[in-house]
Amino acid sequence: MNSTDWDDRYRSSELVWGAPPDPWIVEQVTILPPGRALDVGTGEGRHALWLATRAWDVTAIDYSRVGLDKAATVAARSPRTVRARLHWTPLDITAEEIPDRPYDLVVWAYVHPDPEHRAAAIARAAAALAPGGLLLLLAHEKADSHPGLPVFGAAEVSEALPEDMVVEHVEWRESDPYHGTGTDLAVRARRRRADAIEPA
Ligand SMILES: C[S@@+](CC[C@H](N)C(=O)[O-])C[C@H]1O[C@@H](n2cnc3c(N)ncnc32)[C@H](O)[C@@H]1O
Repeated sequence: MNSTDWDDRYRSSELVWGAPPDPWIVEQVTILPPGRALDVGTGEGRHALWLATRAWDVTAIDYSRVGLDKAATVAARSPRTVRARLHWTPLDITAEEIPDRPYDLVVWAYVHPDPEHRAAAIARAAAALAPGGLLLLLAHEKADSHPGLPVFGAAEVSEALPEDMVVEHVEWRESDPYHGTGTDLAVRARRRRADAIEPA
């Protein structure tokens, strides 16, 4: 799918992905102090909005302007302080530089670039992290109900990450039936701090 396909999809229905954030993202973020977050492929902004309500300052990027407009419309019902923390930014992660770096958290939820652009896009998102910052990546590894979707696995994520990133946790789970059937991948990786002690 390209940005025009996504525009059409967002135009044609109410909320495509539903309003609640993904439970794994919630579980991972709830224990963190708020900081600056980048939501890659924000879509209708469910993670960006949830993060902003928890006091994170969020740059939410997507190449679908219809998706971003919809996200901003949903967020318009939120308190002014929450809205002020949301920065809806049209951007193609495969082709453009990420603004306002660095971030303490990068959320990448179900963004599936074409294989030839994927590694560079993941590397770019990860490189936007501050030392000590976290990447939380969710993806379909096996997507029975989305034939043709360019799925990917943990090895490709790990290989795409810059050398100063450490994969801390990988898990697989059944896809949320609301979004389709198959297997999802969840990866948590951290950018090393310059003063981190190397393992022996
Ligand atoms: C499956 S939706 C997920 C939306 C959101 N992350 C969520 O979990 O609700 C994938 C989103 O990624 C966006 N996307 C795909 N490729 C992109 C790219 N190259 N640059 C920016 N956004 C992209 C699409 O426009 C779409 O909104």
